[in-house]
Amino acid sequence: MTKDPRFCRLIMAQLMLTGNSIFAKDSADEPTHSDAQVELGRFLFFDKILSGNQNISCASCHHPLVGTGDGLSLSIGEGGRGLGMTRDTGSGDDAVVERVPRNSPALFNLGKPEFERLFHDGRVAVNPEHPSGFDSAAGMLLPNGLENVLAAQAMFPVTSPGEMAGQIHEGVAENDIAAAANAVPADIVSVWALLAERLKAIQEYIDLFQSAYPNNNIGNDGTGITFVLAANAIAAYEAHSWRADNSPFDRYLHGDDDAMSDSAKKGMALFFTTGACVRCHSGLYQTDHDFHAIAMPQIGPGKGDNSLGYQDGREDFGREQVTQDPADRFKFRTPSLRNVELTAPYVHAGAYATLDGIVRHYLDPVDALNSYDAEQLMLPSHPDLDALDLVVMSDPNRCAAIADATDVRRTLLLDRQIGDVVEFLRALTDPNSVNLGVDIPSHVLSGLPVFE
Ligand code: HEC
Ligand code: HEC
Repeated sequence: MTKDPRFCRLIMAQLMLTGNSIFAKDSADEPTHSDAQVELGRFLFFDKILSGNQNISCASCHHPLVGTGDGLSLSIGEGGRGLGMTRDTGSGDDAVVERVPRNSPALFNLGKPEFERLFHDGRVAVNPEHPSGFDSAAGMLLPNGLENVLAAQAMFPVTSPGEMAGQIHEGVAENDIAAAANAVPADIVSVWALLAERLKAIQEYIDLFQSAYPNNNIGNDGTGITFVLAANAIAAYEAHSWRADNSPFDRYLHGDDDAMSDSAKKGMALFFTTGACVRCHSGLYQTDHDFHAIAMPQIGPGKGDNSLGYQDGREDFGREQVTQDPADRFKFRTPSLRNVELTAPYVHAGAYATLDGIVRHYLDPVDALNSYDAEQLMLPSHPDLDALDLVVMSDPNRCAAIADATDVRRTLLLDRQIGDVVEFLRALTDPNSVNLGVDIPSHVLSGLPVFE
C-alpha cells in the first residue's frame, strides 16, 4: 500500500484539531532540567528509603525492564518482593493484605505539556485556580512549589499505606511514616516531612540536592531539603528518561513512506476510519485525555464503591470518584497508546493480557465483558487475595451495570482486520524504549539494595 496523500492530510487535520502539530516538535514548551536534577530523581525513583519499611521503591511498580509498569494486572504493594510474575505477596507480618486495586500504568511521555491529568480517574490534574496549581485528594494540604503534574503525582504513592508507607499490624504501626499515613484523618504532611528528614540524614543526598537546587538554600546539614524538591526531581527524571516519540508512526508522519509496514498502514486506516478508535484515541499520543465507559472487566479488590445495594466496596466507579457525578460511573481515562506493545497487561484493572485481546474487545464490548476469560490475568497467587479477584465478574447483576454504562457498542471492525490494527499499534513503539535497562542505577544513595 503506497502512501495516500489524502489520507495523510486527514491525519494531519485531525492532529491539528486536537492542538498538536507534528512539525513544531513540542519540545520547545517541554520543561528543561539540569543533569543534576535528573540524576537526583533517578536515585530517588529507585531508592526504597522513600517507603515506610524501606522495602519498596517507585521502580518496584514502574520498572524499566517491564515497560515502566510492573507486568501485573494489579500491583502488589509494600511487603511484596521481586518483579513481574515472580513478585510474591510477602510473608509473616509483611504479608500483603490486599492487591492494589488498579493496574500500574506505563510512564511514557508524561512530561509532555498536554498530559495534564494523571491516574486512571484523572484525580491529580493541573488546575491553575488551585493555590498549589493542582487538583488532588490532598486538597489544600498540597504544598506550593510543585513544578508540574508529574511532580504533584509523586507526592502521593509515599502516603499510601498499601503502596509505600506501610500498614498497621494489630493496632501497631511498624514505622513512624506508617503511623502518620494510617492516622485518621491521614497526616500526609507529616509523611512528607519525615521522608525529608530521612534524606537529610544521608550526606550523598545533601550533596546532590545542593547541586540540583543551587538556589534553594540547601545547607550543609540538609536544611532546605523538602519532599516537594524530591518530587520535582523525580518528575524531571521521568520526563527526561521516558520520552517515546520516535516510532515508525512518527517517521511516517514526517515523510518516510517506508517507516511502516503495509499491514500497519492498513491498521492505521482502520484506526482512523472504520474502527473509529480515533474518536477517543485522538491526537499525537492517541488520547483525548478524557474519560469513557467501555465495558471493561472489573478485577480485584475494587476502589471501595458499591452499587445495587452491595456493601463490600468491590466496585470501581472510576471518574465518578473524582466528580461525584453518577454520569461518570465506570468511566476511565483514555490511555495514550505510545509503546503499548511494551506495556501489557492493559486497562485500569489489567484485565487484558494481549493487544489482540484488547482490540478484539471492541468488536462487541458488552459481549466481550460477558465472555471474559480470567485465565489471562497476571496475578501472583495467594488464597485470600485470589478470593476477591472475580467478585464482580462472577455476579451477572454487577456486570450488567458495567455493560449498561458503556459508551461504545459494536464497532464496524471485522475479525480479520484485527491483525492489521495490532500491527498499527506496534508501529507506535519507539525503538529507544525497547531496552531501558540502562536506566537502572547499580546502587542508590541510601545504600539499600536496588534489586531484591
Ligand atoms: C505498589 C505499586 C506502586 C508504587 C510503589 C508506585 N506506583 Fe505509581 N502507580 C501505581 C498504580 C497502580 C497507579 C495507577 C493508580 C490509579 O490510577 O488509581 C500508578 C500511577 C502512577 C502515575 C500516573 C500515570 C498516569 O498515566 O496517569 C505516575 C506518574 C506514577 N504512578 C509514578 C510513581 C512514582 C513517582 C512513584 C514513587 C514515588 C510510584 N508511582 C510508586 C503503582 C505504584
Ligand atoms: C469511547 C472511547 C474509546 C474508543 C472508541 C476506543 N477506545 Fe481504546 N480505550 C478507551 C479507554 C477509556 C481505555 C481505558 C479503559 C480502562 O482503563 O478501563 C482504552 C484502552 C485501550 C487500550 C489499552 C491501553 C492501555 O495501556 O491499557 C488499547 C490498546 C486501546 N484502547 C485500543 C483501541 C482501539 C484499537 C480502538 C478502536 C478499535 C479503541 N481503543 C477505541 C477508550 C476508547
